[in-house]
Order: sequence, then C-alpha cells, then structure tokens
Amino acid sequence: MTEVKTEVKKRLLSGMRPTGRLHLGHSRVVQNWIDLADEYEAFYFTADWHAITTAWDTTEMLRENKRQIVIDWLSVGLDPKKCHIFHQSDVKEHAELHVLFSMLTPLSWLERVPTYKGQLQAFSEKGKDIATYGFLGYPLLMAADILMYRPVGVPVGTDQMPHVELARELVRRFHHIYDCEIFPEPAPVFSKIDILPGTDNRKMSKSYDNFILLSASEDEVNAKVKGMVTDPARIRKTDPGHPEVCSVYAYHGFFNKEEQPSICAACKAGEIGCGQCKKRLMELLNEELAPVRARRAELENDPGMLDDIIHEGNAAAREAAQETMTLVREAMKI
Ligand code: TRP
Ligand code: SF4
Repeated sequence: MTEVKTEVKKRLLSGMRPTGRLHLGHSRVVQNWIDLADEYEAFYFTADWHAITTAWDTTEMLRENKRQIVIDWLSVGLDPKKCHIFHQSDVKEHAELHVLFSMLTPLSWLERVPTYKGQLQAFSEKGKDIATYGFLGYPLLMAADILMYRPVGVPVGTDQMPHVELARELVRRFHHIYDCEIFPEPAPVFSKIDILPGTDNRKMSKSYDNFILLSASEDEVNAKVKGMVTDPARIRKTDPGHPEVCSVYAYHGFFNKEEQPSICAACKAGEIGCGQCKKRLMELLNEELAPVRARRAELENDPGMLDDIIHEGNAAAREAAQETMTLVREAMKI
C-alpha cells in the first residue's frame, strides 16, 4: 500500500507597517515574499498597531493605508492562494501574547534596543515626543507577532535584526521559566536582492522624494525619470559620460540588463544623449508597471475581492494563533 504523505511546510512570517504607498524598491521585497511562499507556509500581515506607535495622533489615513498596502502586495503578484494575508489588529491574540510577554521581559532589554533611543532622538528633532509605553514595547509586540506563528524564519531587512534577536532571547527565557518547548527560535531571513537606489542615487526613501510609486501613472513615471540625476559632467551629448555616477544607468542595470553594456559604451563615447537614455528607461519602467496597474485596477474595481482575501487570511491566522495561545496559557497555568 502506498502511503499518502501530506507535506507539512515550515512557516515564515513577515509584516510591514501600513504607512503609505509602496514604491519600486519595495516591489523587490514583495517579490522575495512571493518566492518564499513557494517553499514555506507564509504569513504576511499589515502591522497596523505598530504604525500607531509613532502616529497615534494622525490615524485618519490608517484604514486606507492598510487597504492600499495589500493592493500593492497583490498587484506585484503576491498570490493569496499561496500565503495568508491578514491585518495584525484583526487577530487579537497578538495583544494577549504581547501583554503576557511584557510580564517577563526585563525593561533593560527594551531600553537597549538600538532603534529605541535612535528613533526617540530622530522624532524629538522633528518636535515629537514618542517616549510612550507603546513605543518602548514596539519590539515586544513584534516578538508576539513573530512567535505567535512559531515560524522558523522572518524575512526582514537588516535594520530589523535587533528585533528578531530580542524575539530569540525571549524564546529562551520563556522556555526556561515555564519549563516548556513551544517556540522554534526564529532566524532572520535576509533576501539576496540588490537594493534599488533612489532617483537621485541616494537610498530610496519617503523622506527624500526620490521614489517611484508602484501606483504611479505613466505621466508620473515619466516625470520622475525626467528628473533623475545623471552625470553632471555631461553638458552636450558628445561629452564623454561616467555612467557609474548616473542613477539612470543604475536603473538600466535593474530593468534593462541586456542593453546596459551598450548604453555604458555609448555614454562613455559620447554617442548617446541623456534624454534618449531616459526615454528608453521610461518605456521600460512603464512596461514593467503595466501588469501591476492592471491588477491594481481590478482590485480597486472590486472591493469585495479584497475583503474576501483578508477575511480568509484573518481566519487562517486566527486558527494558528489560537493553537499557540492554548499552549502558552497551558505553560503559564492561566
Ligand atoms: N518592524 C517591522 C518594520 O518596520 C514591521 C513588523 C512588525 C514586522 N511586526 C513584524 C516585521 C513581525 C516582521 C515580523 O519593518
Ligand atoms: Fe546617464 Fe545615460 Fe546620460 Fe550616460 S547617457 S549619463 S548613462 S543618462
């Protein structure tokens, strides 16, 4: 008799704060999520409570931001049939686990997280005091998000490393205190993707206005490319260029690998104008974004479809969360 084995996939979890529309740089992060969902049982969520830690006084866009970030994910190709997509605040167990973890987490662990003092400082320079109880607990809420799903890995940027480390320490402390083995120690999963720079060659960031939104129209893309920083030494088309300092050239490397060497040669020889070079990039970016725009339009026109996706994702997340909470309450004799 042949035995039918249902494969149990290892789990992964990741989330993003819904603070606004995603840009082209983010699409590479989402692409990584898409790839990982083939291999793992993946949970992806909007960290809406985390978004409130620094913006409790400006929540009027929160619901729309949550909707839009999910549309952004889906429009670049995240398949809701292959992963669970949900909102943090729809799975109340995250709050319960957070409060239980808070009982056994030394204050010093939170105070020494490097982002804590750094962010306090950065916000206070902008005139905002974020020294709240909730903000201090940011990494602990994140530990609850992660450990809730007992994942083996957490795909994150290197900036989130101290938070994942705190979650790992908490696992050891929890197991030691309650003499149990509930959580695998989650490993950070860094993606192999190269980071797309901004249109001015700096890091692509919301604070520099050097990004191209995934939801940008053709005209908006063209305007952004027009404003891209090129080699300042080139005044006339015949001036020999230095592609290595040019952001347009860097983008050709991401979106136009095939033609990049010939563009390099033509630029150095003074045989191609920056206008022409940008025009080619506009075409390519708009080609890249065409299917993304089509999927976005579909989702925008059928709000019920999005609701169904979240409804299903929430249900799957809750089921997994309830299993974990049963184990946690049992271990803590609650
Ligand atoms: N702190 C993460 C960020 O800013 C967002 C986040 C919240 C997260 N909870 C998480 C990421 C759990 C991974 C796992 O990017
Ligand atoms: Fe940049 Fe292209 Fe101009 Fe060379 S020709 S400087 S690669 S935009």
